Amino acid sequence: MSKQEDLYRMNPEVRAENRVADTFAIGDRKIPSRYFLAPLAGYTHLAFRRAIRELGGLGLATTDLVHATQLCGEHRHSMELVETHPEDSPLSVQIFGGSVDQLVAAAVWLENHGYQGIDINMGCPMAKVNGKGGGARLLCDADLACRLVESVVASVTIPVTVKMRLGWDRDSISAPYLARRFEAAGISAITIHGRTRQQGFQGAVDLDGIAATVAAVENIPIIGNGDVRTIDEAEQMHQKTGCTAIAIGRGAMLDPWIFRKISDRRNGQVVREPTGDEQIDFLVRHFELMTEQHAERSCTLFRKFAAWYGARLGIPEDLENRLRRFEGVAEFERIAAEIRERHGERQSTVATALIKVPNGPVERW
Ligand SMILES: Cc1cc2nc3c(=O)[nH]c(=O)nc-3n(C[C@H](O)[C@H](O)[C@H](O)COP(=O)(O)O)c2cc1C
Repeated sequence: MSKQEDLYRMNPEVRAENRVADTFAIGDRKIPSRYFLAPLAGYTHLAFRRAIRELGGLGLATTDLVHATQLCGEHRHSMELVETHPEDSPLSVQIFGGSVDQLVAAAVWLENHGYQGIDINMGCPMAKVNGKGGGARLLCDADLACRLVESVVASVTIPVTVKMRLGWDRDSISAPYLARRFEAAGISAITIHGRTRQQGFQGAVDLDGIAATVAAVENIPIIGNGDVRTIDEAEQMHQKTGCTAIAIGRGAMLDPWIFRKISDRRNGQVVREPTGDEQIDFLVRHFELMTEQHAERSCTLFRKFAAWYGARLGIPEDLENRLRRFEGVAEFERIAAEIRERHGERQSTVATALIKVPNGPVERW
């Protein structure tokens, strides 16, 4: 009997429902699909989440990581990161920090403000996060990580989840051990990026490492993460790891339709690529939703996406340049109309290269 079958056997009611429907539960939250949007700080903001949800097939989305203390202090940037909308659901807010008190306070703040799920970041490799004991640094101190998880779980009634890496480096793979302890401490699900902190974003994702984490827990869902860009890669992640769900980050930037495509494939429907018009509609919708949240400032914020859309849609270079500099909504509308007219003039290139990951020695990130 496979581990996956074994899980179904252990918890017949929940597992039977999970098997027939594509929905499943994280704690007491029903999640409509097993394919999640992984947080990509700077990209997976409210407007992008709403635009991608409208395409269909997305289960849970998570905010960018939010500094626990700044959240409690209601700093402007943190408030923007946690801003949500009735259509932006189900959503978890990801918090980070290295102190139990900070994280507990942030968790309580979130529950008091009506949020439905909390995710604790234990995967971020950046020095400024690790230096203060947060992110992946917690993988090095199992007792602190467990105390922190226990305290956060005890302080709220909403489900608490963790997103982590396999370990600090390949000589200290701690995810399976931690996952077991986190489950005992009351964590409702764990997302596991199949790389170590030392790897950063280099090398292949270790599916065996994710499988070992799946094997280590009794009942909670493990969400596999890393390098899933196609339906086949999602299938492989399920098959090789036995994970219950999958979080997709850069693959969703490359192809925002990936969730709909996976859902169509699973429902036996024809999987189709978006037409050129649908792709331009997505660009327009993304900007509209950004304007809804940020008003005039949306122009400056949206310019950051010019290169990405340029490559994604094969936007002619002169139009891409205008998208980099536009000043107002009317100008955006003129550019979008021209993009529609001239779509197809330039061959689109692969856009993943444009989602910057830090490089150089990970210690200096
Ligand atoms: C630009 C960028 C920003 C990221 N921001 C976060 C973050 O805020 N919180 C987090 O847990 N992971 C973050 N990650 C990691 C991703 O969620 C994910 O674990 C990683 O990219 C591997 O998955 P993927 O190959 O599907 O992108 C980030 C990754 C990138 C490239």
